[in-house]
This record gives sequence, structure tokens and C-alpha cells, in this order.
Amino acid sequence: MTTSRPSPFLAALRGEKPEHTPIWVMRQAGRYLPEYMAVRKKLSFNELCRTPEMACEVTLQPIRRFGFDAAILFSDILVPLEPMGAPFQFGDGGPKLERPLRTEEDFKSLQVVDAREGCHFVGDAIKMIKSELGDKTPLIGFAGSPFTLATYLIEGGGSKDYRHLKAMLYSRPDILQDLLDKLGDQILDYLLMQAEAGVDAIQLFDTWGGILHPADYEKMVLPVVKRILDGLKDTGLPRIYFLKASAPYNHLIKDLDVECFGLDWTQDMTRAIPQLPGKAVQGNLDPTSLFGSTEEIKRRALDICRQGTDAPGHVFNLGHGILPQAPISAVETLVETVQSFRRNG
Ligand code: CP3
Repeated sequence: MTTSRPSPFLAALRGEKPEHTPIWVMRQAGRYLPEYMAVRKKLSFNELCRTPEMACEVTLQPIRRFGFDAAILFSDILVPLEPMGAPFQFGDGGPKLERPLRTEEDFKSLQVVDAREGCHFVGDAIKMIKSELGDKTPLIGFAGSPFTLATYLIEGGGSKDYRHLKAMLYSRPDILQDLLDKLGDQILDYLLMQAEAGVDAIQLFDTWGGILHPADYEKMVLPVVKRILDGLKDTGLPRIYFLKASAPYNHLIKDLDVECFGLDWTQDMTRAIPQLPGKAVQGNLDPTSLFGSTEEIKRRALDICRQGTDAPGHVFNLGHGILPQAPISAVETLVETVQSFRRNG
């Protein structure tokens, strides 16, 4: 049985005023959930991402437990890189590329592939999740931005200073540009595949776009982000662009053709909203506030809900991914607080 009540999440993205402020949290399926850890005892992270039944199961876990207003496909931004020729291992120290890409030849060896073939298991997982969710809870599809993916490809994993990528930016921007364009082709195709498979909204994650001078962001990152977002327009799906550390870039991104901007917690939403006119916003509680007192979680969450009423639409979220140590009871408090917020109440 499915109900056909309009989704508060989709309504907020379209700039309408839903019955309550919708909430989901980045990394909502993950290690802070005991039921996720139970699945991970049996399967590696890579196997989990490539087994549609299990990816479906862990996507649904946080929906069942907390009743979030949106589900997000269980996968990783690095998954579409393997069929291109750049496999990752996920260990305790985060993702590790078998061989970092550092030269023009390395970049040339990456192949753009048809995502329907290379990532068929992602399309299969989406179809399975959609049939489980019905019309009740919308499903978010996602990908990493070319620049954020390039940081992992070039550094070979996470980095503190992005030395190799920046050395390339400051010596051979032309080959970095070619890499970003190639990744742009792949990511657009990958997201179109997710749209065909049935996702209800799309989020582009740009976790590391914010490490650049705004002039470099504008020249190297923004054009390919724009090309991907414009290329998704005909799907009719709402698009969310999450650029972490985006405050110094608001004037550059404000005209992107998106329905919603994700904000991290270092921005004051009351200042960001007028800088992003006509767009819904998503965010922006500090993920570590979940380690604070119950009263403080409620107070901060309600502040953000109130601030969000000034935007055309507001989707509540954390300002970045939930931490593996986050207490379940804090997430329960958060969801209950946000879902019972009424703009006039
Ligand atoms: O949000 C969700 O619940 C959907 C699944 C999802 C994962 N990663 C699962 C995951 C999503 C949307 C991502 C996005 C992602 N992955 C980003 C962009 C968002 C962000 O957090 O900045 C980035 C930069 C990555 C790359 C990545 N994957 C890192 C740096 C790590 C290691 C650090 C960490 O948090 O574990 C991963 C691994 C990863 N991706 C895990 C999960 C659940 C943990 C793997 C495990 O089970 O051991």
C-alpha cells in the first residue's frame, strides 16, 4: 500500500511550503547504525555497493528507524571511477586508490564508459529501492563533482593539503582541465542513468570544491558543474548542489540552474538565503552538535528551522555527513524536533 500525500521533501525543493520541514541527513545510512554494522560484518563496503539487494537494504535502514523524509541511494561518489579504470579500496584510513593518477598519460588512460553497463548494479539498486519505497519516501540519487573526484584520483585518497592536485593546477592547468571535462562527461551520463532508473531528486556533492581561491573555482570547477546541472534539466528532477565551504563562492554559484543549494554549518543561513535568491536551501546543523545536550540540539535545530522559513523552500540536513560515533538518541531528538516544527507554531 502506498499513500499519495505530496512529499514534503520534494515540495520544499520546488519552493512550496510543505506541512512540516522535511529532514534527511548526509551519510544517514552508515556506521552509526548497529544494523548497518551487522551487514558490514558479512560484506566489504565495495561488495555492499555492488550488491543491489544489500544496497537496497541499507538504504532503507535509516528510513525504517527514523522516518526521514527522503532516502539516499547507498553507494559512494568513488564507485563510478572503477569502470573508468581507477579502482578504490575502502579501509579504516578512508578510500585508497590502487595507483594515483599524476601524469598526462595517467589521465589519458581513464575511459568514459556507458554507465548503464559499467554501473548497472547502481541502476538495479535504484529500481529495487523504488519498488520498496513506493510513493511514500522519495529517493535521492547522487554523484561527486568532477573536481572532488579529481582530488581523490590525483592524491590517491584523502589529503590535508592537496599538494599533487594543486601542483598540477599551478603548472599544467590544461591537463587538469581535460581530466575535469572527461569526468564531467562520465558524471553527467551516470546521473542520467540514475534518472532513467527512477530517482526522484539528484544531489551533486562537491566536498572539496571549497579549497580553491574563488577565481580558480570560477575558472576550473564552475563550468563543468554548470554543464552537468544544465544537462540534467530535461529530466525534470530537482537538483541540489552541495558545495562544502561555499560561503566565499555564493556570488559565483547563485545563478546555477538548480532548485536547491546545500549549505554547511559555517554559513549563517539568514545571510546565505538573500545571497542565493529564488533557491531552496538545505542544511545546516553542525554534525558534531549531535554530541551536545538534548536541549542544545533542539534549540539549534529550531533556530535553523526558523531561519529556513525565509527561503523559498528549506530541507533540514546536517552541514556535512553524520559521524560514525553519533548517538542514535540524538538523531531521534533531531528528527522529532524538525518534523514537529510548524512555521506558524
Ligand atoms: O549518505 C548516504 O547515506 C549515502 C551513501 C554515501 C556514502 N558516501 C557512503 C559511505 C554517500 C552519499 C557518500 C558520499 C561521499 N563519499 C562523499 C561526499 C560527501 C561527503 O561526505 O563529503 C565523499 C567525499 C566520499 C568519499 C568517502 N567514502 C570517504 C572519504 C570515505 C571514508 C570516510 C568515511 O566517512 O568512512 C568513504 C567511505 C564511506 N562512504 C562509508 C560510507 C557508509 C564508510 C564505509 C564503511 O562502511 O566502512
